[in-house]
Amino acid sequence: MAERTHGNPFTAVLSGLLDQRNTEPKVAPVSPDVRLDGRTCLVTGANSGLGKGIAIRLAKRGAHVIMACRSGIPEAGEEVRASSGNGDVEMIHVDLSDFDSIAAFCDELRDREIMLDVAVFNAGVVPVTARKNKHGLELMFAVNFLAKFVVLDRLLRDGVIPNAVYGHNSRAEDPPRVIFVSSETHRSSIPIDFGTFGEPIDYGVADGVKYYGLSKLHLTTYFKELSRRLNPGNEEDPDVCVHALCPGAVNSNMAREAPGWLKPILAPVMALFFQSPEKASIPVDYLVCSDEMGAKTGTYMHMMRVKEPSEASMDPDNGALHWSTTEALLNEHGVL
Ligand SMILES: NC(=O)c1ccc[n+]([C@@H]2O[C@H](COP(=O)([O-])OP(=O)(O)OC[C@H]3O[C@@H](n4cnc5c(N)ncnc54)[C@H](OP(=O)(O)O)[C@@H]3O)[C@@H](O)[C@H]2O)c1
Repeated sequence: MAERTHGNPFTAVLSGLLDQRNTEPKVAPVSPDVRLDGRTCLVTGANSGLGKGIAIRLAKRGAHVIMACRSGIPEAGEEVRASSGNGDVEMIHVDLSDFDSIAAFCDELRDREIMLDVAVFNAGVVPVTARKNKHGLELMFAVNFLAKFVVLDRLLRDGVIPNAVYGHNSRAEDPPRVIFVSSETHRSSIPIDFGTFGEPIDYGVADGVKYYGLSKLHLTTYFKELSRRLNPGNEEDPDVCVHALCPGAVNSNMAREAPGWLKPILAPVMALFFQSPEKASIPVDYLVCSDEMGAKTGTYMHMMRVKEPSEASMDPDNGALHWSTTEALLNEHGVL
């Protein structure tokens, strides 16, 4: 099947609408009777949109939910507690564009000896034009991909996410689950240029969606490589289950930076045709709670359909090069 293009806001919106009419087979939602009592679940970007929907869903199942957020503290946590009827919900501040803030966040989890059963990396950003973070890196690349690499490097090495390879504290059964919120836009991205890796790109309004797709290609390539590295030779019986998904079109705050002239067009289209965060969180819930996803790794879902991500993101040589190039970049910045 030809890959759809998501190169600009109009084709991205159209593609989101068409996805909802797809009739290929789907997995069934997990029964509401399945409980997460006694489990600790981290959700990044949980103060808004999809992340808040995920936090409410996991809290309703009885989990201890940690909302890792840059804003909305404490009111978003209060909302999740009230909506779910679960008081065991807390918020921890983190700005994922800032390596110092990430380090402080990871220190807190380590010092409190928190053990995560589930980590959902949901936070993402679509700046209207290119911006840099305080370290001089392009913001969308930094938040949508690099931050995940840095946070996971710490959580895995510190054993906050139990694992054999980096933490040497593997759990014999019930492997932890790491889930990335990616996007189908990764399919129509320009290829990753390893010669200019990490160099800030200067894009304008017309190219924002294109580079958003590139940031999600970075993330999807990383997700597959992480799954391989955490489960060397045992992907059929994983030590850590690593999955990713595109939630489809979500009526969230994602278009908050859209140009002023576009907002009056986008807002009613999103409200009418895009899924609510509550509905869009159902596939994340499936990756977190289904028995099937606790016994395999490297699964990519598009809404409620399991499928392969793009060929480039699955290629092991490409994944290994992507990993080593990322490490070199982070070493240059004194982060690893
Ligand atoms: N909406 C869609 O149609 C769609 C489609 C496919 C994939 N996705 C993906 O779904 C995920 C959730 O997005 P959404 O649609 O729910 O949008 P959203 O409502 O804008 O939520 C994005 C979340 O990411 C957080 N975030 C952004 N920059 C951050 C930073 N530097 N540090 C910490 N948190 C940061 C935001 O926090 P603040 O509120 O503090 O900014 C917010 O909580 C994203 O990864 C997005 O790429 C969305």
